[in-house]
Amino acid sequence: MIDVVLLPEFLPREALPQAQVVVLDILRATSTTVTALASGAASVRLFDSPDEVLKAKTPADKSVIAAGERGCRKMPGFDLGNSPAEYSQDIVNEAAIYLSTTNGTRAAVAARTARRMFVGSLLNASATAEALVTELHRGPTLLLCAGTDGRTAIEDVIGAGAILWQVLAGTMRPDLEFTDTAWIAYQTFASVRSRLAPALRLGQGGINLINADLEADIDFCAALDRFPMAVSVNLNSLEATPWRIM
Ligand code: MLT
Repeated sequence: MIDVVLLPEFLPREALPQAQVVVLDILRATSTTVTALASGAASVRLFDSPDEVLKAKTPADKSVIAAGERGCRKMPGFDLGNSPAEYSQDIVNEAAIYLSTTNGTRAAVAARTARRMFVGSLLNASATAEALVTELHRGPTLLLCAGTDGRTAIEDVIGAGAILWQVLAGTMRPDLEFTDTAWIAYQTFASVRSRLAPALRLGQGGINLINADLEADIDFCAALDRFPMAVSVNLNSLEATPWRIM
């Protein structure tokens, strides 16, 4: 069964230990995580709260970058915010990034009892789909939308649909068992796939970025399949690393 979970609070707790989960926060946490790793970061560790990041990063940790946002902005005492463009190779190469964001990293924490976890985005949709199809038979596949402040976010639904589009194209199996929310995500992506950036501007997450003068981030996050890299998460440490370079 392939399902799209519209908010972390709708995660089916009892099914999680058998499930492979893809966490999606298209604007911007999961897009930023994927970009950081594509730029050569050693890992991106996902944290619930900014305090936990500052506690985990000791002053001696020169190779650790404290990163994230609250209210779309970089926080005091942090090295980087949550704009993917900040994560260039010269800044993040071989660094361990400790990331805490309002919705995205917390969604990963909420799903940490899963059987396995990936970090998905439009930037790596095809690579994520390829990783998922290796184990579609082993249990449920859940595409988890982080949402924005407790509400379903259209950009996360579009991101889930992009991955499902590739799952169907890659497996050529029309008999895959999609739930209604999986079909909603698939159809939503299908209706906007030739104009992703304008579609990402529609929802509250996009509006928040525009209001914070961070509109360029929307265009960055809309670049479908920019990185041919699936990203998996170690469920003990919540460290994200490249799953496989294709
Ligand atoms: C989040 O995790 O809440 C988002 O990435 C928000 C943002 O990027 O500002």
